[in-house]
Amino acid sequence: MASKAPQATTATRGNGRGKERLRFENVTKRYPPRSGGSGHVLAVEGVDFAIADGEVVSLIGPSGCGKSTLLHMASGLDGVSEGRVFVDGEPVTGPNPHVAFMLQKDLLLPWRTIRENVEFGQEIRHIGAASRRERSLALLAKYHLADFAENYPHELSGGMRQRAALARTMALGPDVLLLDEPFSALDAQTKMVLQNDLARTLREDRKTALLITHDLVEAVALSDRVLVMSRRPGRIIREMIIDLPCADNPLGRQHHPHTGDFVRELMGLLDIGHVELATA
Ligand SMILES: Nc1ncnc2c1ncn2[C@@H]1O[C@H](COP(=O)(O)OP(=O)(O)O)[C@@H](O)[C@H]1O
Ligand SMILES: [Mg+2]
Repeated sequence: MASKAPQATTATRGNGRGKERLRFENVTKRYPPRSGGSGHVLAVEGVDFAIADGEVVSLIGPSGCGKSTLLHMASGLDGVSEGRVFVDGEPVTGPNPHVAFMLQKDLLLPWRTIRENVEFGQEIRHIGAASRRERSLALLAKYHLADFAENYPHELSGGMRQRAALARTMALGPDVLLLDEPFSALDAQTKMVLQNDLARTLREDRKTALLITHDLVEAVALSDRVLVMSRRPGRIIREMIIDLPCADNPLGRQHHPHTGDFVRELMGLLDIGHVELATA
């Protein structure tokens, strides 16, 4: 078992930004042995942090340290072994319509058009056809997909599909977004466009977000705070406040003279080694 690592302190207070949206309270997760295996997997241990309303926080850490596990517990798709997770002060016991989850894979249903995919969640909640349609078309316009509403997923590029997934994620007007490496499968140029769309949405609509990424520049460009996790069992070993301007403009932030310093420090914490970074 890992030694006790220091826990973030300001994170525990939600960074003092007002109403708390999401809180992990001393959360530990143990998975039962996989079939044929022996011994439990201690995925995360004693994770303790909170995110305030309108805050965007990135979670970074080595592969397998339990980042996705934390998001699954926040979404209510999986339970904790110890500790508690709260959304808006209520313990999470199952999926919550105010919390949306977006993954690297777009998971669009191939037999539905893009519009029908965006409407899927609203359909399940029995929202009427006319308002569903109005909402989905407005979202598709917002994400530059108005001309593709009646196309099927296979007719779209990877970047467009992920934009459609973003529209679907926003369709029920969630307050909290859980984003698990949403752009990691995209090429660099497409990724930049989507980062920009996401940042604008998060800031204009004042969403609260917990974003997992392996891209340290992305973490700095999009976030108010970055939480760094240790190797498994994952614990929060460091909190970094990203006090840069232009949170709604990731491209601008990437060019900010201090971005490189943040990224270098994160690389050091992840033990990635030192290389000169060109951020301009
Ligand atoms: N459903 C599961 N059953 C058993 N072990 C799991 C399960 N999901 C994840 N794990 C294990 O828990 C650890 C953390 O996984 P994960 O949260 O996916 O890490 P990350 O997202 O940081 O790469 C890994 O060792 C992984 O193999
Ligand atoms: Mg993962």
